Formats: sequence, structure tokens, C-alpha cells
Amino acid sequence: MTLHAVDLIRKKRDGEALSAEEIRFVVEGAARETIPEEQLSAWLMAVFLRGLSLAELDTLTTAMRYSGEVLDHQGDGRRTVDKHSTGGVGDKTSFLVAPIAAAAGLADPMISGRALGHTGGTLDKLESIPGYRTHLSLDEMRGVIAKCGCCIVGQTNNLVPADRKLYSLRDRTATVESPYLICASIMSKKLAAGLDALVIDVKAGSGAFLRDESESAYLAALMVETGERAGTRTVAIQTDMSQPLGRFAGNWVEIQESLALLGNQRHRLSEDCREVSLVLAGWMIYLGGKARSAEAGRGIAEEKLADGSALRIFREMVAAQGGDLAALDAGAAFHAPRFRRRFCAERSGFFSACNCTGVGWAVQRLGAGREQAGEPVEAQAGLEMHVKLGDKVESGQPLVTLFTEDEALFAEPEHLLRAAITIADEPIDPPTLIRQVINADNKNKFLKPAGHKYD
Ligand code: URA
Repeated sequence: MTLHAVDLIRKKRDGEALSAEEIRFVVEGAARETIPEEQLSAWLMAVFLRGLSLAELDTLTTAMRYSGEVLDHQGDGRRTVDKHSTGGVGDKTSFLVAPIAAAAGLADPMISGRALGHTGGTLDKLESIPGYRTHLSLDEMRGVIAKCGCCIVGQTNNLVPADRKLYSLRDRTATVESPYLICASIMSKKLAAGLDALVIDVKAGSGAFLRDESESAYLAALMVETGERAGTRTVAIQTDMSQPLGRFAGNWVEIQESLALLGNQRHRLSEDCREVSLVLAGWMIYLGGKARSAEAGRGIAEEKLADGSALRIFREMVAAQGGDLAALDAGAAFHAPRFRRRFCAERSGFFSACNCTGVGWAVQRLGAGREQAGEPVEAQAGLEMHVKLGDKVESGQPLVTLFTEDEALFAEPEHLLRAAITIADEPIDPPTLIRQVINADNKNKFLKPAGHKYD
């Protein structure tokens, strides 16, 4: 029977389940660009509003995974592990965990994304290193992994082309924040990379795509279910995203903070990022068979920071992907921003609430992100947080320093920060950083919570 995209949009719009053949038709239409963007967008919105059954989600993820080339085992004899995050602000854990896993004797073929919505993009941050190539051929990828144990690259046309198309449409059609679409997008890429094990950092809180803790846990369980069904050991760690992770958010500034963390330097405002990275790396090392428990894996991860091996591997990876180590070594001065401005507290009190999505948009509007796909981003753009939730602040104290190349860009981020940062009289407890672990053993508890809106 001939399938027509309009019928499948209508069917999903009306809340009916799609057959495997129908889902595969849409995915192929996205990958080959035989279904026009307006129909793909309408279909995405129908899925966003109506959701998918577990069977539909499985078919969608599998069809997307095989929409292009699929990597065979990349590990060169080593087990392949990876971590992926559902998106955050100031989240630079990839730059730590990939080299830590490699230093622990594992292989990490990390395929990352660009800025999406208010969240930063790993590839955009890496491209602030002059010469760094995020698009490698599969052979080049294999070469970098053989040499360094890890690589961090973007999707190629050959790898999960369906996600490449759908991801860019979702960013423009307000269809990002769907647990089904996020799950299919992330898991198709991760499964196409031929992994033995995967650790997913599922964010919860005001800067996450799914802010509510139970919705975020639902997404986590969907990803664990999808990964395990496909034969990849998958564990999700729900972590806090109710304020930027670490001290800096932006492009070059995040690379600099990562280098400091890889060099085992400690700073109060970077401690949360160090902690999340160690927990994620600990799970990767455990699932990769190099430790008896995630806790023991965390201990190994700490050693790899302390003995300098993770930093050495990061630098080797940057060089192997064409990055200029002299620029990396020049530090903050290399991409010094033309303009800096302090954002100060208007009153004394406690930093008691943060709309982290607002802070993320401030970072993007300073020039770190793009309005339209394909636009260039500024390496220098970003911000430095001077406070964490729960801190006592004095009137006039700098809360944030903003960096940009264009002075005219300050106004909107300042407005966004004014709305995003609350100083109140009452002290609050800092948020719990590691919320919970969701894995094959407990996922069912989160898959069908009573009264959940996706039931
Ligand atoms: N990261 C992805 O790769 N896809 C999403 O949909 C969200 C975050």
C-alpha cells in the first residue's frame, strides 16, 4: 500500500498508534529528504503532543539508528563506553569523562551535538579550539581512537542522517522537549556508534528540557529500556540542572574550565562539575568492566585526574583532531572577549532560585549560540557565575560576569539574568546534585507512574 505523509500526520494527530512500516516511512523520508520539512515538522508536533507507545518508540529509534551507516565495534580490543547528556547549561562533563574513560583502558567514540535551544553544544565549544575538526570520516575516527582511546566528533551525513534532519527541525519548531523525541534522538546516535555500555546524564531542574523530576525520570527509564532492548548496557544518572554546572558557561570559557579540572585544579564553583563528571566516569568504568562497582570506578576516575593521564589524553585527542595545542596553552588570553560586564546583586540576601533556562538563553544571546542553523558562533561569548544557589550575597556584589564580542548584545542577557536570578531573605539548602540512578533493575518503576501525563 502506498503511504502518504499527510495520512501519518493525521493518524498521530488523532492519537492513533503508527505501524512499524509507517514509522520507517517517516524516518526514511527524513533521512533522504523525500518528505518536505513542513510535513516532518507537523509529524514531530503530533508526536510531541500525543506521545508514542514503547513499541513505537523502539521502532522509531531502531529506524533512525539504521538510517545511515552503523559503526562496528570501535574499541580496537577495548570495550566501548560512552556518556551522553540530555542537555544543560555549562555542562562540560564530556571533556572530562571521555579522556578519563580512555585513561582507564576503555574506548569512547563520542558523537556529540551542537547548541540546541538554550543548551550549549559540545561541538561548538570544541570548535573554539583553532583547527579542531569535529567532522571526521569513519576511518579517521578509528585512527583517533586507536591513538588516544577517545574522540569527540559530530554526526556525519552517513551516521544517523534522520536525526540530523529531525534534530534541526525540532530546534525550529518547539518540539525539543518531548521524552520520546529526545530518547529516539539520543539513543539512535548512541546505538549507531556500536557501544558496549552507555551512561546517560539525565538532567532535572529549571535548566533541563524536562524540568520536572518525574518527567525526567520517565525519560531516563525510556532510554534505559531502549538501550537494554538493543543489547547495550544502559544506566541513567539523574543530575541537577537548576543552576549552571560549574563556574563558566559558553564556548572557550568552558574549554578553559575543563582544562583546569582535567589538571586536577579545584575551585569552589567548579566542584559540582567535577563531582558529576567523576560519578559519570565511575559508572562508565564500572560498566566497561574495569572496576567492581561504580564507586570503585569513581576512585579510578579520580586517579586519572590526579596522575595527569586524563589531561594528557585530552591534549592528544585535540591534536589528533587537528586542534592547535599552542592556542589551548595560551589559556583565557587566546580568545579574550572584547567586552565584559558585571551583573551585580540589587539587594542583600541569599541566592535562592535560578531559572537556569533563562541563564542558558543569556549565554546563547551573548553570541555563544545561533538563531538559525548553520550560523557561526562566537568562541569568546559566555559568562562566569560567581555564586551558587544557597550562597549569601551582599547588595552590589557581582553575581555574573558576561563576555561578548558585541557590546550591543549585553542588553537582552542582562534582562534575562534579572528575571532568572532571585535573591531572597530566607536561606535555602543547595540542590541535591546526584538525584538518582535509573537502570535495568528499577526502570519499570519509572516507566508507568500512576497518573503520569504520558500514560
Ligand atoms: N541531545 C540530543 O542529542 N538530542 C536531543 O533531542 C536532546 C539532547
